[in-house]
Amino acid sequence: MFPTSLRTHTCGDLSTKEFNKKVTLCGWVATRRDHGGIIFIDLRDRYGITQIVFDPKHNKESHKSAEFLRREDCIQVEGKVKKRKKGMENKRLATGKIEIFSDKLHVFSKSEVPPIEIDDNIVASEEIRLKYRYLDLRRPIMQRNLLFRQKVINVVREYFNKNGFAEIQTPMLVKPTPEGARDYIVPSRVNPGSFYALPQSPQLYKQILMIAGFDRYFQLPAICLRDEDLRADRQPEHSQVDLEMSFVNEKDIMGFVEGMFKYVIKQAVNKNVGDFPILSYKESKEKYGNDKPDLRFGLELHDVTEIVKKGNFSVFNDVIKNGGIVKCINPEKEFTRNELDAYSNFCVSAGAKGMAYLKYEKGKFESNIVKFFSDKDKKELINKTKIKKGYLFFVADKEKTVNSVLSELRLKLGRDLALIKDELRFCWVTDFPLFSYNEDEQRWEPEHHMFTMPKEEHLEILESNPGKVLGNLFDLVLNGTEVGSGSIRISRPDVQERVMKIIGMKKEEARKKFGFLLEAYEYAGPVHGGMGLGFDRFVALLLGGNDIREVIAFPKNKSAQCPMDGSPAEVDEKQLREANIKLDTKKK
Ligand code: AMO
Ligand code: AMP
Repeated sequence: MFPTSLRTHTCGDLSTKEFNKKVTLCGWVATRRDHGGIIFIDLRDRYGITQIVFDPKHNKESHKSAEFLRREDCIQVEGKVKKRKKGMENKRLATGKIEIFSDKLHVFSKSEVPPIEIDDNIVASEEIRLKYRYLDLRRPIMQRNLLFRQKVINVVREYFNKNGFAEIQTPMLVKPTPEGARDYIVPSRVNPGSFYALPQSPQLYKQILMIAGFDRYFQLPAICLRDEDLRADRQPEHSQVDLEMSFVNEKDIMGFVEGMFKYVIKQAVNKNVGDFPILSYKESKEKYGNDKPDLRFGLELHDVTEIVKKGNFSVFNDVIKNGGIVKCINPEKEFTRNELDAYSNFCVSAGAKGMAYLKYEKGKFESNIVKFFSDKDKKELINKTKIKKGYLFFVADKEKTVNSVLSELRLKLGRDLALIKDELRFCWVTDFPLFSYNEDEQRWEPEHHMFTMPKEEHLEILESNPGKVLGNLFDLVLNGTEVGSGSIRISRPDVQERVMKIIGMKKEEARKKFGFLLEAYEYAGPVHGGMGLGFDRFVALLLGGNDIREVIAFPKNKSAQCPMDGSPAEVDEKQLREANIKLDTKKK
C-alpha cells in the first residue's frame, strides 16, 4: 500500500513477526475496558482491530490521557508490539497474538455518543441506519459489502475488457427513455419550459452506439433512475451492467453473459456454477407460476383442470365453467389442522378465494373434498402429480390469480419446509410475449420495451394476432430474482413502424419522443441486441441476501427519501424562478 506519514501500519497488519517493533496506528476506539489501572482499547479501522494497552507501568502519561477516551473517538497511537500472554490470545482476530503497549496517544477528534452500535450483531432500525449512514458504514459487515462490490466491479470489467468491449459513458440528462417507469425530470434554466429526463437506462444511446459502429459496448455502472414504488430489491437509482453487441443473435448474447457470470463468480467467491437451463415463459408459468423461478428446489405446480372438472366439487366446477383453471402443489409433509388453516389463510391473503386440499397416505386420499372425485379421477391425479405422500393443495381461479397465489405459496413452502438449498441457481427465461394487453386502457403494450424484435416467424401475424407474437426477449434469473433482461432490437424501420402502430403510437408522437433514434436507423443499423444486468441485485445475492440497500452506500428509504441528507427537499424561490417553475402544491 502507498505509505503515508501518520501511520506505519493498519489495524489489520501486525503479527508476532513485528515483535518489539515501534509502530504507529490510526483508527476509531471500538471498545474501551478499564481493568484495575490498565486500560485496554480495541482500535478499529477498515482493515481490522488491534488491541492497545495503556499500562501506567509502561508509560504513565499515555495511560493518563487514555482515561478520557470514549467509544468512536478517532485517535493515533504510537507504541511497541508485544506478544500477548499465554491464554490471552484472541483466535478470532487476525492480530490476536499481539498487542501494542502505548507510548503516546494523540486524539484527532472526539465522538459524540454514537446513536447506533458499530457492531455487526446489533442492527439498528432502517431509519436510524440511513440517517447515520456514516456510522452504519463503519460496521465491518458494511465495509465488507462495499469492498466486495468493488471486487465484483473489477472482475466484471476485466471480463468485458478481455472480450474487446468498448466502455462508453452515456449522458445523464436525456430525452425521456420509454422504459416503462416514470421519469425523474430536470428543468433546463437556459431553455425555459423544457426539461431533461434522467435516464431510466442507457437503452436508446447504446442502440445509437451500435449504429455508430462500436460493435461491442458496455458500461459499469450504468446508473438508471426510475420513479417507481420501492421494494427490498428496487431503488430509485440502481446500477446496471449495461451491454450491447452487434451482428449477434439471442443465443450469442446469452452465451456471452453466461460465460461472464461463471467467470465472475469463480473470481469473486471461488464457486463453480452449472450451465444455465433455458425455460420458455410458458413453461416457467406452468411449473412455477411466475417468470422468475427459483430453481433451488422442486415443488412444481400441476395443472389438474382437465381431471378435476370430471368430479362434482362445485367450487372447482364453477371456476372452470367461467374460464378459470385449477392447479395444485404437493408438499410432502404431515400438517396439523392449524397449519392447514394457516396455509389456506396465506392463499386468501395472496388473492385466492380459498385453498382446498387432499391428504395422501398409504395409497389413499382423504379430506372433506375426497367424496367429490371418482377412483378414476384420483388415479389420474396420482399420475399427473406423481404424488408419493403428503398433501395436494389446490387453488381454483382465473389463470393469473392461480399462478400468482401458487407461486407465492411455493416459495413459502420452500422456506417453511427448508427445501431451499444454499447455492446459486441461474436460469434463462425466453420466448416472452412481445405485447401484453392493458385491460384498463384497452390497448396492447410492449412487454419489455418497444424496440424489441418480434420472432422472425411471427412477423406475419403481428397485426392479426398480437397476443400470440413472441419477442426475441430473454431474462436472466438467479435464485428467483430477475437479475437481467435483454433482447434483440428492431433495426428495421418498417418493423418498428408496425410495432408502434399496434401499441397505438402515432407517427408524430414517435417522432417527437425519439425521432432521433428512428432517423438514425435510416442510415443503416446493424443487427444487434443486448442486456441490462441488475448489478445491485447480483452483488446482494452473491453475498447471500436480497436487500440491495446492503450493497449500496447511500440508498433511499421506502419513501424514496434519504434520511441523512434530507432529500428530496424544497428549493428556495430564487432557484425556482431561475428554473422557470411555479409550484402548485398545497402544504400538507
Ligand atoms: P430492465 O428494465 O428489465 O431492462 O432492467 C434490467 C435489470 O435491472 C434491474 N433493475 C433494478 N434493480 C434495482 N432497482 C430497480 N428499480 C431496478 N429496475 C431494474 C433488474 C432488471 O432485470 N434497458 C433494458 C435492458 C436491455 O434491454 O438491454 C432495461 O433496463 O435486475
Ligand atoms: P366451501 O364449500 O366454500 O366450504 O369450500 C370447501 C373448500 O374449498 C374449503 O377448504 C375452501 O377453502 C376451498 N375453496 C374455496 N374456494 C376455493 C378456490 N377458489 N380454490 C381452491 N379452494 C377453494
